[in-house]
Amino acid sequence: MTRHVLITGGCGFIGSNFVRYVRAQRPAWRITNIDKLTEAGNLQNLADVPEDERYRFVMGDICDAPLVGRLIHDCTDIVHLAAETHVDRSIMDARPFIHSNVLGTQTILDAALRTFEARSSGRLVFASTDEVYGSLPLDRPDLKFTEDSPLRPNNPYSASKAAADMMVRAYHETFGLDCVVTRCCNNFGPNQFPEKVIPLFVTNLLEGKHVPLYGDGKNVRDWIHVEDYCSALLTMLERGQSGATYNVGANNERSNLELTRELLRVLGQGPDMIRHVADRLGHDRRYAIDATKLETELSWQATRSAWPEALERTVRWYQDNESWWRAVKSGVYKDYYRRQYGLFDEAEMDSPSAR
Ligand SMILES: NC(=O)c1ccc[n+]([C@@H]2O[C@H](COP(=O)([O-])OP(=O)(O)OC[C@H]3O[C@@H](n4cnc5c(N)ncnc54)[C@H](O)[C@@H]3O)[C@@H](O)[C@H]2O)c1
Repeated sequence: MTRHVLITGGCGFIGSNFVRYVRAQRPAWRITNIDKLTEAGNLQNLADVPEDERYRFVMGDICDAPLVGRLIHDCTDIVHLAAETHVDRSIMDARPFIHSNVLGTQTILDAALRTFEARSSGRLVFASTDEVYGSLPLDRPDLKFTEDSPLRPNNPYSASKAAADMMVRAYHETFGLDCVVTRCCNNFGPNQFPEKVIPLFVTNLLEGKHVPLYGDGKNVRDWIHVEDYCSALLTMLERGQSGATYNVGANNERSNLELTRELLRVLGQGPDMIRHVADRLGHDRRYAIDATKLETELSWQATRSAWPEALERTVRWYQDNESWWRAVKSGVYKDYYRRQYGLFDEAEMDSPSAR
């Protein structure tokens, strides 16, 4: 039977890249994309993908159980990416995060259980995050998160993802639902909503604005190009062990200050463009992923994430797609930050974030 994958959150950053990736890699597959089109969800992200018998978009909320039930009934598998994803927003108001990330995931799980159990087939791949592990100390570079590290989420976003991650595990253990959990590090690449640090900083610099760097800038993140995460998602969908959790990473640790300097270099600008701003509440110091399990069990490798090439390619995408980010930046999220922060003047108000 031809695979028909339900992708949730397909109009977001990773989702839109994954829709395109699956269409290129598995041209015979069908895709249904359900997305609520929050600020981060953008139909323009898939403007080059026509709706036809291979691809269908449905605007809707993953908490809408009857809708989700009908969609899953038509599908063979689910790649569940839909979520509220911005840590800063979760600090301001955690409620939408519980709604979409926890209740939404449980709605998907219940519908998957009903349909896939009756059919005795069907897999759910869930995008959890490395943030569920909490923070590593800066002075222990030898430490990395493995799949067995305890979950110690430190902000409302990561706590909501950890809750969903554990619900997926519970549906596998309790009901035998065929699930795979992926915990990936920070993604970068095309079509990322410019409230996240790389597109925010690149587009600010292209606009001649300063870049607002949190605290001392020493917080470390592990970076992977979104195409590598897409290939990992497809690998886990096709070959992951049922009930397994896999870390996904590219051994690409950088402090936010190093990242900022690299972006300034690529865009030919100097350190005077950095504005240090008050640190994020509860800002995790360091994330670092050990992806050995995925690399050895499923022979997966990150091949598109090496710096500086991958970062330069990404900067070029934003340079070449100015109308995309200008439209997004002039939209609703500016008002949102104006209301929430009020601490930057018009030229400086955009907030930094490394998730
Ligand atoms: N971006 C990263 O670095 C990263 C790293 C690890 C894991 N993840 C996870 O990957 C997934 C995708 O992340 P992203 O960066 O593409 O996020 P994103 O914010 O760019 O996209 C999320 C999408 O989900 C949609 N959505 C939100 N709530 C919804 C709801 N209730 N019903 C239907 N659609 C809804 C939004 O409209 C948006 O299109 C998330 O689950 C995130 O936690 C992301």
